[in-house]
Amino acid sequence: MAGITNADFCLKLIPYGFDMVTLGGYNADKPTIDAGKKIMGRGRLEFDISEGELIYTIEKEANKIKENWDGKLSVNIRSLTPDSIIEISKLKKVDVVEINAHCRQKEITSIGCGQALLTNPDFMEEFALQVVKKSKSKVSVKIRTHVAGVDELKMVQIIEDIGADFIHVDAMKPGLKEADLDLIKKIKSRCSIFIIGNNSITDLDSAQKMIDSGAQGISIARAALGGKLNFDLSKIRLS
Ligand SMILES: Cc1cc2nc3c(=O)[nH]c(=O)nc-3n(C[C@H](O)[C@H](O)[C@H](O)COP(=O)(O)O)c2cc1C
Repeated sequence: MAGITNADFCLKLIPYGFDMVTLGGYNADKPTIDAGKKIMGRGRLEFDISEGELIYTIEKEANKIKENWDGKLSVNIRSLTPDSIIEISKLKKVDVVEINAHCRQKEITSIGCGQALLTNPDFMEEFALQVVKKSKSKVSVKIRTHVAGVDELKMVQIIEDIGADFIHVDAMKPGLKEADLDLIKKIKSRCSIFIIGNNSITDLDSAQKMIDSGAQGISIARAALGGKLNFDLSKIRLS
């Protein structure tokens, strides 16, 4: 979560049994960094880090986590420049770089980044392919469902075909406080890429339903905002 999920935040959640934590989202090239400043200008939290300081900052945060834990670390990145993501993938403590094709802040979508990447499949394919080819860590792509004009199944197929390791699906249903589990089932039936299912997981029941719909992993954001989790992740039955 931009402006929130730094090392200190992740370290609070790790004791709840997560096997991967995510730093960021970070804005990693000039257009996204400029967009981030505009987002802050209207009062939303962001990580305000210059291009020159980004690698050092992520390395510092990653080291702080890995000094205390040997689980997996991913970094969520908003960028239109493959090289800025590849540089982050070279950090020894970073296990996964995650392409953010999810952000819906207008300052990010208006430059063609975040969820706007989903509306431009040709660009997305070439962009993500460059990252996958040159990345030194695993690659995840985070998408949002129900973006107007986007065929999610086609997009997941593209992401699987270019060789990404994970598809992280925010299965949001606009206006509802529940995930679109039918869409997770459809993705699972057509693709073999590892699915991280996300949205409205607030308790054991919603976590289990996501797994039973075909996600191999889950991610939790708002229910962990307070730096705590109110249920036991070890009770989830993996299929
Ligand atoms: C304050 C806040 C900041 C967020 N920032 C990011 C971000 O930087 N990158 C990202 O991929 N998702 C971001 N998200 C989305 C969450 O990671 C997650 O996909 C979404 O909230 C749905 O999951 P949930 O129901 O578990 O909260 C953010 C969400 C919140 C509430």
